Amino acid sequence: MLETRPPTRSKPARESSCRARIGASARPHEPWTTERWLAYFRTNARRKDRFPWRAGARITEAERAAIGRSIAMFQLGESGEGRHIQRAAERYLQRGGDPAYLPALKLFIREEQRHGRDLGRFMDLAGITRWRRCGTDGLFRFMRHTGGLERAIAVLLTAELIAQVYYRALREATGSPLLKRLCGRILRDEVYHVRFQCERIGMLRRGRRGWDRSWRLALQRALFAGAVAWVYLTHGRALRAGGFGLARFWRACWGRFRAARAMLEPWPMQAPSPCARRVQAMVDHLSQRTSPQTPLEQAEGSAGERRSAARSSRSSRSRTLETR
Ligand SMILES: [Fe+2]
Ligand SMILES: [Fe+2]
Repeated sequence: MLETRPPTRSKPARESSCRARIGASARPHEPWTTERWLAYFRTNARRKDRFPWRAGARITEAERAAIGRSIAMFQLGESGEGRHIQRAAERYLQRGGDPAYLPALKLFIREEQRHGRDLGRFMDLAGITRWRRCGTDGLFRFMRHTGGLERAIAVLLTAELIAQVYYRALREATGSPLLKRLCGRILRDEVYHVRFQCERIGMLRRGRRGWDRSWRLALQRALFAGAVAWVYLTHGRALRAGGFGLARFWRACWGRFRAARAMLEPWPMQAPSPCARRVQAMVDHLSQRTSPQTPLEQAEGSAGERRSAARSSRSSRSRTLETR
C-alpha cells in the first residue's frame, strides 16, 4: 500500500516550525508520505543536542527515591530492539506494503534506543541501578507480540501517548538540569512518534467499514484506559512528585488520546455510518467529562486547571451580577 499523496511541505528542515501544531490539533490532517518520514528521521538523527553531561546528574536523595524505580522501568521500555514489529513490517511489505516504511521504522526504533541510552547514561551518573526486566515491560511486550503490524503499532502508540505525559511529570519532578534537558528532547521526539504511529494505523485501516474502525477504536480506548491506570499504579510516586495526581494524570493522558484520535482516521477521511456517528458522539460525550475540551488544552495538558479557572471566573462573574 503505497502512500502517493505529496507532502504538504517538502523540506525536513521546516519540521521544527510545525512541531507545535503536530499533535496539538485534533483536526484531521493530511498524513506525511513515508519518504517524508524517512527524511524526517534522518534529519532528526543528525541533530546534535548539547546535554550537560559533565555537570553530572545533580539529583537529591529525595528525588532519587521518588523517580529511581520509575525511570529504570521507562529506560528498559525505551531500549527494546523492536524485532517483532520489524518482522511484522517485513510481512506487510511482502503483502504489497509501502517499501519505505521498513527503513523509516528502523530509524524510529533507533531513536527510541537513543532515548534508552541517554536515560541509562543519566542513571549511571545518578547511581540508579539499571533493570534487565520488569513486569510492565513484559506485559507491553506480550501484547505487542500477540498480533500483526496494526496490533503492534496500537500497543506502541498507547505507550507513546502515556510517555508524553510521563516525561512532562519527570521533568517537573527533578531539579537536575541534565534530566530536564533529556526529558525535553524525548518529549520533542515523542510528538513525532505519535504522529508516525497514528498515520500508519490510519493507512492500515483504510478501506475498512465504519463499524470495523469503530470497534477497533473502542478496543484501543479500553487498552489505553487499562494502561493509564496501570502506569499510575506502578509509577504513581514519580508522577505525584511531578505534580500529577491521579485525576490530572488521567485527564492529561486522555487529552493526548483525543488529540491523536483524528490522526487515526484513514486519509482521505471516510464518512462514518449513521450508527458509527451515534456511537462516536456517545463516546465523545462520556470522554469529555474526563478529558480536556479544546485542542489547545489537549496540547498543554492542563485542562483541569483551565476548566477550574474558567469555572471560578464564571462563578465570580455571576456573583458580581447578583450583587448588582
Ligand atoms: Fe521514547
Ligand atoms: Fe517514542
